Amino acid sequence: MSSPAPESTPVVVRASDVSKRFVIRKDKSLKERVVNFGRSNKHKDDFWALRDVSLEISAGSTVGLVGANGSGKSTLLKVIGGIIQPDTGIVQRRGRLAALLELGAGFHPDLTGRENVFLNGAILGLSRKQTEQYFDSIVEFSEIGDFIDTQVKFYSSGMYVRLAFAIAVHVDPDLLLVDEVLAVGDEPFQEKCMAKIREFQKEGRTIVFVSHSSAQIEDLCDRVVVLSHGEAIFDGGTVDGLEALRESFGR
Ligand SMILES: Nc1ncnc2c1ncn2[C@@H]1O[C@H](COP(=O)(O)OP(=O)(O)OP(=O)(O)O)[C@@H](O)[C@H]1O
Ligand SMILES: [Mg+2]
Repeated sequence: MSSPAPESTPVVVRASDVSKRFVIRKDKSLKERVVNFGRSNKHKDDFWALRDVSLEISAGSTVGLVGANGSGKSTLLKVIGGIIQPDTGIVQRRGRLAALLELGAGFHPDLTGRENVFLNGAILGLSRKQTEQYFDSIVEFSEIGDFIDTQVKFYSSGMYVRLAFAIAVHVDPDLLLVDEVLAVGDEPFQEKCMAKIREFQKEGRTIVFVSHSSAQIEDLCDRVVVLSHGEAIFDGGTVDGLEALRESFGR
């Protein structure tokens, strides 16, 4: 009996011609404000943070998203995660998503760490019972101890990231989006996060990883996408990608 032909690897994320526009308000001088009183549309500019970005990410891959400051990495990650909507194009995504985006994103400042764990669990699709089941393990991974009952507005940057990362890796995600945030964790915690990400890779989960650390990208990623002024200017192997990144600076 012949074995069935292997299915091609499923696509977890498909972004097609995605563009994102922001309206930038320019500061006006006092004189301009007086002269143009009530007619201020001149001072709005369109700014394309992403332009026609297309990419497919297959299950089990780890994609490094790199580029200069302001090149559109966080914007693309948010569009992939469905946190913001693109102005053109579409994003298709399958499976459970966990996103580690900007500091404090997804946390309610007035709630305690404990309350935020339950809030996030609910947002990420866990029942209260499931979150209860993971709760001790989340707190243990985060190492924030008794601060779990402190309002998160009093957390340090590192404490935020510790709790957010601990939650993200406990909700059994198929797709994990990680923005630069890990960098605010201290070295032992960063190492722990990297180890967890490696474990996720072995389990066949899909990861999109934004970092300014070429060493981390080289270490973790099997593919690199380089953004420059909102455009994907390179998509391919890690070594060539990091070279393309260096060339993109100053463009
Ligand atoms: N909500 C917003 N309103 C207006 N402009 C925005 C908004 N969010 C992002 N931008 C602009 O879009 C561009 C891309 O920003 P983005 O945060 O995606 O860059 P990045 O590649 O993540 O940069 P960094 O390496 O500094 O984190 C920047 O010029 C930024 O000012
Ligand atoms: Mg960013």
